[in-house]
Amino acid sequence: MATERTFSILKPDATKRNLTGAVNAVIEKAGLRIVGQRRIQMSQAQAETFYAIHKERPFFGELVTFMTSGPVVVQVLEGENAVAKYREVMGATNPAQAAEGTIRKTFSESVGENTVHGSDSVENAKIEIAQFFQDGDIVG
Ligand code: CMP
Repeated sequence: MATERTFSILKPDATKRNLTGAVNAVIEKAGLRIVGQRRIQMSQAQAETFYAIHKERPFFGELVTFMTSGPVVVQVLEGENAVAKYREVMGATNPAQAAEGTIRKTFSESVGENTVHGSDSVENAKIEIAQFFQDGDIVG
């Protein structure tokens, strides 16, 4: 298995409830290393670009409004099989369907406000990381 990097966002419902440390503890316990991390206020343009793939979806407006409603923590996670590992740790998009022990099962209140984002492929991870990080900001 290869060492990979994936992109993570701790969403506004996480920062609002002071859950940054609690979510990071789950991430680190799963063996993923947080090699880049920054707390930012996402602009509307950044959110629209980031979620461009969903722009025809009925929930797009709601998603952009939510992601810009408060601070988020953008992260680069590194580890063996990091993309798939983090998706497992996050749990299903809809917290009602997420497995016990996953971040979304433990912390999320709805499919919209689902606490975390994680890349769905190594290729998309590279694109997503490049939107928010410069090489010097990631220290493995
Ligand atoms: P994320 O992994 O960040 O990628 C797209 C996001 O769209 C997803 O997490 C959810 O938060 C959000 N999403 C998916 N389905 C819905 C929905 N039915 N209503 C609101 N938001 C949704």
